[in-house]
Amino acid sequence: MTYSRRNFLKAAGSSVVLTAVGAESVFVAPALALPAPMTKEKSPFIINGKLHVAEYEARTTLWEVIAMKLGMVGTNRSCNRATCGACSVLVDGTPIYSCHTLATEAAGRKILTIEGVGDEKNLHPLQRIGHMHVAADCGFCTAGWVVTAKGLLDKNPDPSEDQVKAALAGHICRCAAYPAMIRTVMDSAAVLRGDKSRIDATPASIIQVKQPMVRDYSTSGGHLPGDELVEGRRKMVTKKWQGYPPENLNVLGKPMPALPEVSIPRFTGKAQYATRVWFRDMLYVKFLTCPHPHARIKTLDTATAEKMPGVAQILTYKNAPKPAGPHPPGSRSLPEALPQELNLQGEVVAIVAADTEDLAQDAADAIQVEYEVLPFASTLKDAMAPGAPDLRGGKGNLLRPPNAPKDFPSATWAEQRGDVEKGFAEADVIKEFTYPFAGGVSVPMQPAGSVAKWDGDKLTFWGMGQGIYPVRAGLAAALGIDASKIRFIDKWNGCTFGAASLAAERFYPLIAHLAKVTGRPVKVMLPKDQELAQLRIKPETITKFKVGAKKDGRITAIHHEVYVSVGDLEGGGHAAGPGNAFNQLELYTSLVPNWRSLWCAYRTNAPRPGPSRSYLQQETKWSWESMMDEMAEAVGMDPVQFRLMHITRPKPGDTRHPYDSFASVEVLEQGAKAFGWDKRNPVPGGAPGRLKRGFGVGMSQHHGGLMGYHEGEEAFELLSSARGAAVFGTELELTADGYVTMKIALPDSGSNNATALAHLVAEMLGFTTRDRMRLIWGDTDIAPSSDEWFGGRTITLQGAAICSAADKLRKDLLQRAANVLKADVQKLQIRDGVISSAEDPKKSTTFAALVKANSGAIRHTGRGVAGGERGLSNKGVGACFAEVEVDTWTGDWRFIRAVYPHDTGLVINPLVAEADMVGSLVESAQLTTDAIPWDREFPGTRHYSVGYLSYRLPTIMDVPKQTQVYIDSLEPRWFYGVKSFSETSIGAVPGAIANAIFNACGVRIREHPITRDKIMAGLRRQA
Ligand code: FES
Ligand code: FES
Repeated sequence: MTYSRRNFLKAAGSSVVLTAVGAESVFVAPALALPAPMTKEKSPFIINGKLHVAEYEARTTLWEVIAMKLGMVGTNRSCNRATCGACSVLVDGTPIYSCHTLATEAAGRKILTIEGVGDEKNLHPLQRIGHMHVAADCGFCTAGWVVTAKGLLDKNPDPSEDQVKAALAGHICRCAAYPAMIRTVMDSAAVLRGDKSRIDATPASIIQVKQPMVRDYSTSGGHLPGDELVEGRRKMVTKKWQGYPPENLNVLGKPMPALPEVSIPRFTGKAQYATRVWFRDMLYVKFLTCPHPHARIKTLDTATAEKMPGVAQILTYKNAPKPAGPHPPGSRSLPEALPQELNLQGEVVAIVAADTEDLAQDAADAIQVEYEVLPFASTLKDAMAPGAPDLRGGKGNLLRPPNAPKDFPSATWAEQRGDVEKGFAEADVIKEFTYPFAGGVSVPMQPAGSVAKWDGDKLTFWGMGQGIYPVRAGLAAALGIDASKIRFIDKWNGCTFGAASLAAERFYPLIAHLAKVTGRPVKVMLPKDQELAQLRIKPETITKFKVGAKKDGRITAIHHEVYVSVGDLEGGGHAAGPGNAFNQLELYTSLVPNWRSLWCAYRTNAPRPGPSRSYLQQETKWSWESMMDEMAEAVGMDPVQFRLMHITRPKPGDTRHPYDSFASVEVLEQGAKAFGWDKRNPVPGGAPGRLKRGFGVGMSQHHGGLMGYHEGEEAFELLSSARGAAVFGTELELTADGYVTMKIALPDSGSNNATALAHLVAEMLGFTTRDRMRLIWGDTDIAPSSDEWFGGRTITLQGAAICSAADKLRKDLLQRAANVLKADVQKLQIRDGVISSAEDPKKSTTFAALVKANSGAIRHTGRGVAGGERGLSNKGVGACFAEVEVDTWTGDWRFIRAVYPHDTGLVINPLVAEADMVGSLVESAQLTTDAIPWDREFPGTRHYSVGYLSYRLPTIMDVPKQTQVYIDSLEPRWFYGVKSFSETSIGAVPGAIANAIFNACGVRIREHPITRDKIMAGLRRQA
C-alpha cells in the first residue's frame, strides 16, 4: 500500500485529530461505524450558521466538502496529513484538522471556517490586530491558526502566553510569524475583554544603528565636486541619492503594517492563491510517479485507468504535447515534464485528470508501468566513485563546460590568487578540514500547483512563482499561441522561497493542455511528497579546506574545494563561475594573499538544486563559518577578532571588491555589542554543570538586491535593448480623488514587496502617510509588463521602474502647478496632495484639481533594468550571533536567543522588515538541524516525507528570542540611500549555531546536520 491519505482513511477508518486548546491536546475517537469508502453520501452541513447540503463519497474529507464541493475556499490545505494545521476549522467549537476528518463525521454539526470569523467590513480583533502586527507573511497558514485562536478565546478569554503557544502548537507557519501570532492573540484577548483599546504597529525587538557610512568614494570611481558620483569602468555619472536624499522623511523609515489590500485578505481567507481558485465543473489532477532513482519506461498501459469512473484524460510521455516552440529569451528552460527516462525517484510518469482527486488517484494507481531500472548515483560519493554509472552519455559525471579551467581538469570552475604553496610554506599553523552538508529544502506551505481555464481561445491561468510576464511568455511559447491570448494571474503565493516556481511551472503547459482538450477548468495541487521531488533544493555539498596561518592569526594560504550535486541539470549551478562560486569566496579572501578555490559540480540522480530561500548561502557558509571558528581556535584568537582581521571591507580603488556601501565591520561590531559577546566564555565547554551555554557567531555575504538602472540613465538604454534583458515596468495613476494607484506585475509571497514600493512613491510625492496609495498587481490584464523578482530584486529593480515613474509624476505635477499658479517651479513644495508656493503658501493647488484640469487621470510609466556594473558591485553583508544551551547528559540542545545584524541601507519599513527577518532566522536555524530525510532505501534520491511528519519544521515552541540590528549604511547610488537586504544574513545561521554548540560543550560538528546523536557522540569521545 502506498502512503496516501485515502489509503490511510481506508485502513484506519478515520480519526478526528484536533489541535490543542488551552494547554491540552484532544484526540476524539470516531463515534461512527464508517460506511464503505466509496459509498455515496448526502448530508447537511451547518457552516458559519448556514445550512448546506453536499453529495460526496464516504471517503471524502471535511476539507474536500467545504472547499471542493461547496466552494468555500478560505480554508487552506497544505500537508493533507494532519501535521500543519492550515486546514483547521471549528466543529462544535473545537478546532480540528479538516483534511483528516471524514465529512460524514462532521455532518449536521456546527462548523466555523475563516469566512465565519469576520470579513473586511467586520474584522474580528484577531484579523485586525493580526494585520497590525504583521502576523501573516505569506498568509497561507493564517486562516487555520486564526480559527483555532478564536476557538481558544471563546473558551478562555484571558489566556497566558504559554496557553496561546500550546493552543497554536499544532500550526506550522513556514514564514515563522510566530512571535507576531502570540502578540496578536494576547492583544486580541485584551481588546475583547475591554482591557485594551489601542494597538500600535511597533516592531518587537530591533536596534537601528544610524551611522551612515557613505564613504568618500564611489564604486570604482569617486565623488565629483557637489552631489555627483562617478561609477564603474565606464565612468557613469549619477546624482547622489538619485536626487532624493535621506532627509526630512515622512513615510520612509516608519513602522507600518503591510498594504491592507495585500495583507487583510490573508486574514479573511480571501487572498487568492492558485489553490483557492475554484469552479464547480473543475477537474482535479493527480500524478503517477517513478519509484526508482533512475529508470526508463519500457511499457506503459493506461487502458484500464482510462475507463475508470470520472476520468477525463491521462497524459504520459506517449501523448503529452511537446513544446510548440523554443523558450523565449529571458525565460527559464525547464526540464521536460513527462520524460521517458526518469532521472530521479518521484519523477512524473503520468498525469490523470478526473472529477475528484480521489478518482484521479484511483486511476493513477491503475496505470500499469514496466520500468527498465538503470544504474544510478544519487550521492556525491556514488557519483564520484571510480566506476560510477555514467549519467551523461559518456561525458562523465563531472560537469566540464566549455569555459572549465584547463589547468584543473577535476574542476568545473576554479580561481586562484598568489602562490598557494609559498603561502603554506610561510605558515606557522596548517589545518585541514572537511565539512559535508547533507542538503535542505525550503518547503513552501502552499502546495505547488496551478489552475487553467479556457474561454474560447483565451486562456486564464492562475500560477505560483516569482513573476507573471516571463512565465506567461514561456507558457505561450510551449502552447504555440500568442502571449496576448493568456491572462496570467498570480497575486498571492503561500511562500515560494524561489524553490516552488520550478515545481509549479514545469507542468503549466500540460495543465493548460488538459483544460483545452477536456473543455473544463483543471486544477493541480501537488501532495507534499510529490512536490518535494520537484522543488529546487539546497544540494548535498562537500567542502574541503587546507588553511595556513601565522602565529598572529593572519591567514597566509587557503586551498578550498567544493563538490556539489546538481541533479540532472547541465548548468554549473553553485559552480557557475564568478556570479555564484566567486561570490561565495569574497567575504574572507580579499586580504588573504594566496588562495585557490576549485568547484566541482557532479551530475547525480538527486533533486535539482536552485533558489531555496536564498541561493547558495547556508550550504556554502556552513563550511566557511565553521572553518573560521576552527582557525580562530587554532591560533588562540577570539572568533569576532579573527573575522575582523580577515573580513573584506570597503577600500578606495579596490576594483576586485568595489563596495563602497558594505558595512562588514559594523555588522560584526554592532552585533557583538547588542549580543553581549564580551560575556562569552572563551573556554569551550568551560562552564560548570550539566547544562552548558555557549556563544557562536557566523557571517554571510550576499548580493544585496542586484541594483539596476532606470530610465534616464545611460546604462539603462544600453542594457534594456539587449535580447532577453530583464526589464521591469510599472504605471502610476493619479485620479481625481487624490489617490495614486501603483500597478506592478510582481506577485507577493509574504515579503510585502509592494508595501515597500508604496512607501517610496508616497515619500517621493510628498505624502506624510501611505494612506493615498492603492495597488493593482499580479495580473497581466491590468499590470504592465515586468520581469520577476528573486534574490531581493524588488526594491532596486522593480523599484527602479517605480522610482522613475514617481519622479516623472512629481515633476509633471510641479510643472502643471507652476503653470496654474504662475509660479517658479523651483519655489514650489508638495505636501499631502497640495502644491504650494514656498514663498506664499496661500498660492496653492491640489493633486485632485490638477487631475480635474487634465480631464482625466494623470499617468506615468517607468522602467528599470537588471545587469551592468551596479549589479555586480552591490553586496550585502550580515551576521548571526547565537546562544545555545546543551544538555551534556542527553545531547539535547536549545536555541536560546539570537542577534541578527544586517547591513540594511535605509530601512523602509522596520515593522515589515522585522517580520521578514524573523522568518529568515528561524528557517535557516531549521536547515541547520534537519537534513532532507532521504529515502532509506535509496539515500540521496527522494525525500520520503509524508506531509511534514518526517521533516520537522519549527513550530511556535521552537523560536528563539531575537533582536534584529539594522545598520543604516546608506547606499549613495540609490533613492534615499535604500538598498535591499533581503536574505543577506541568512547564510550565517548554521555556522553560528555550530560554533555556539562548540563553545558550549567543546563538541565540533563538521558534518551537517547538527543532531543530538552527534553531540552525544562527541561528548562521549571527550569523556
Ligand atoms: S493539517 Fe490539514 S492540511 Fe495540514
Ligand atoms: S505566514 Fe504562515 S506560512 Fe506564511
